[in-house]
Amino acid sequence: MRVIVEADAEGVSRTAARFVAELVRRQPDCVLGLATGSTPLGLYAELIRLHRQEGLDFARVVTFNLDEYVGLAATHPQSYRSFMQRHLFDHVNLDPRHTHVPDGRALDFEAHCGQYERLILEAGGIDLQVLGIGGDGHIAFNEPGSSLGSRTRLKTLAPETIRDNARFFGGEEAVPRLAVTMGVGTILESRRCLLLATGEAKAGAIRDCIEGPVTAQVTASALQLHRDVAAIVDEPAAGLLARREYYRHVEQAQRLLQSGGLRTVGPTIDHE
Ligand code: F6R
Repeated sequence: MRVIVEADAEGVSRTAARFVAELVRRQPDCVLGLATGSTPLGLYAELIRLHRQEGLDFARVVTFNLDEYVGLAATHPQSYRSFMQRHLFDHVNLDPRHTHVPDGRALDFEAHCGQYERLILEAGGIDLQVLGIGGDGHIAFNEPGSSLGSRTRLKTLAPETIRDNARFFGGEEAVPRLAVTMGVGTILESRRCLLLATGEAKAGAIRDCIEGPVTAQVTASALQLHRDVAAIVDEPAAGLLARREYYRHVEQAQRLLQSGGLRTVGPTIDHE
């Protein structure tokens, strides 16, 4: 796993936006996997800036969001569909028909989840999946104990997640108890993953995800099995990483290599 430590949350957003923008420019019909929550807000703001000021073109891009609360209509202000409209979709030239968020009010969730998986496959799979991480180490809503082979399905939120998200609902009581979420197995099939984390509150989860054992108790740790993951974290979120200095050396070597200052026998280093 590539680990990029930035000084602050702004640096995380800028670096993440560089990864996304580089893909969109190289492959204008790419498929992006998107996350909600506080962490990617800076990334989305930067993508909007790149669209407005540098003409970053989303006309052919297709998106799939990770998850949605069960019971909330798309128009509910706290639904992940309205979150995405507010923070990204309404501000760039994405074709509305190309944006996908699971339906929290589906009549038949089993059928809906199967169809979501099929739509991802029909779109050619996800080229780049943006991920945040929960305080309990979850990715999407794959709470501790979720199968590392899981697919899109209904999941019961953990008490910690309900507590974390109460701030958006004005209290724990109003937080939905269930979500539709892509599975860990679905996420691992993305061609590349960008895991973003900022703030001290994520330091334990980031340590367990990157340096702990692969375990269903920390579903983000399954990313260690993926061959192309970049974890982009700020200093506070990196605070408990034992190999922090090594990750820095790797990034320095990467930069040297890219600028022609290093020679190796292979074409690249440390990408996996
Ligand atoms: C959101 C999602 C969640 C969040 C995670 C972190 O679509 O899938 O896994 O990424 O709960 O949330 P924040 O960024 O609010 O700390």
